[in-house]
Amino acid sequence: MANQRSVTITDNATGKSVECAVLEGQYGAPVIDVRKLYNELGMFTFDIGYGSTASCRSAITHLDGEQGVLLHRGYPIEQLAEHSSFVEVAYLLVHGELPTANELAEWEHALKMHGMTHEHLSRFYSGYRYDAHPMSVLTGVVGAVASFYHANTDIYSNDDRLATARRVIGKMPGLVSKIYRYQSGLPFVYPDNARGYVENFMYMMYSWPTEPYVANPVAVRALELLMILHADHEQNASTSTVRLAGSAETNPFACIAAGIATLWGKSHGGANEAVVTMLEEIGDAKNIRRFVDRAKDKNDNFRLMGFGHRVYKNYDPRAKIIRKACHDLLEDMNLNQPLFEIAMELERIALEDDYFIERKLYPNVDFYSGLIYQALNIPTAMFTCMFALARSAGWIAQWNELMSDPDFRIGRPRQLYIGAAERDYVPLAER
Ligand code: CMC
Repeated sequence: MANQRSVTITDNATGKSVECAVLEGQYGAPVIDVRKLYNELGMFTFDIGYGSTASCRSAITHLDGEQGVLLHRGYPIEQLAEHSSFVEVAYLLVHGELPTANELAEWEHALKMHGMTHEHLSRFYSGYRYDAHPMSVLTGVVGAVASFYHANTDIYSNDDRLATARRVIGKMPGLVSKIYRYQSGLPFVYPDNARGYVENFMYMMYSWPTEPYVANPVAVRALELLMILHADHEQNASTSTVRLAGSAETNPFACIAAGIATLWGKSHGGANEAVVTMLEEIGDAKNIRRFVDRAKDKNDNFRLMGFGHRVYKNYDPRAKIIRKACHDLLEDMNLNQPLFEIAMELERIALEDDYFIERKLYPNVDFYSGLIYQALNIPTAMFTCMFALARSAGWIAQWNELMSDPDFRIGRPRQLYIGAAERDYVPLAER
């Protein structure tokens, strides 16, 4: 291992050592390659929550939590948010490069061509209770799409994987909008391919069958921005779930459904819904301190929703952009949003508080996004579906990368067994 940086791990009990290579990426902490640890020392690593574990190689997204930096394929999120579109960012995530004008037009056309779903799929929605949580419905219907694209999908064919990416990204707006339509008692709407991706989604959500639909361009741009900011975020819980499911060579729509199920949790994508519920509960700026005190109290399991992040120990760069977008949107739409005032005051108080300063807890992407969704008339329970709509681009890009990795193998973590020692079965009458 001459000239290569390495780390030697020695078992003090036996004196046996293993030299592990240190691998350097483009950015970020180097990683210790422990793959031969078990064979040579008979030991596993132990890392609950994967705080010190790099689970894969990836060339898609980089984030620097100390500096508050987020890059997709090397491009800073601030530049993508300002100049790009969601469709272009999705292309970038999947293909690795920004498209030329022709490539972008072809990609956009292909997404539109995949916007329809099999007519029978519409019947799945009516199987849910009228008040089912939208994330439960989305998990189910995306899983159901797997049944329409199974036998003919070769997950080891690059062409088939790219076709799958076009299908996932193309179909998600229709799948999400149908949840809203069903729960509102409105007829399903087919996509209108004369409209752009984001506008088309709004058309499928909000158009009235008897009236022409004209989207508000300010609202379309605000939603586009949110979708760009949510498109990918490297190996978070839902993306890791998609990869783990994919590593078992399962159907890609089933992998995305697994990612959606994980995103639903309030520690992850469900936080956008939880933030608005929390702000409504606070109700008035004079109550903020009481909630902040609760968040600091170790005997209370309440946490400030939309605050803190496993990786960002600085202001989440997405939250910075969303905070401004939220302010601009409310002004442009002439909306008086008392919750935005409460959110800003809560942020101010928390950021001056030693508890949050010492733990480097800052607002994350979900702190202000719910307020934008609310201004766009998206029901609170659907916020996390909006997150899933955007993140499906990242999930499918990550799945594609996994499936083309030369080191591809099934993900299979090990454990530290702390259960009972081997013992004999005791017949029922003797227990
Ligand atoms: N409010 C109060 N205290 C907090 C919070 C919070 N929101 N977040 C972390 N802490 C405390 C935590 O109690 C711990 O304190 P101590 O060191 O005294 O035990 C310390 O900060 C470190 O927290 P942790 O639990 O070790 O951090 P983690 O990396 O395991 O969890 C997190 C990260 C995002 C789950 C957590 O910060 C949290 O629950 N935040 C609220 C939910 C939220 O906003 N989630 C969205 C995350 S970003 C979007 C996404 O991933 O989808």
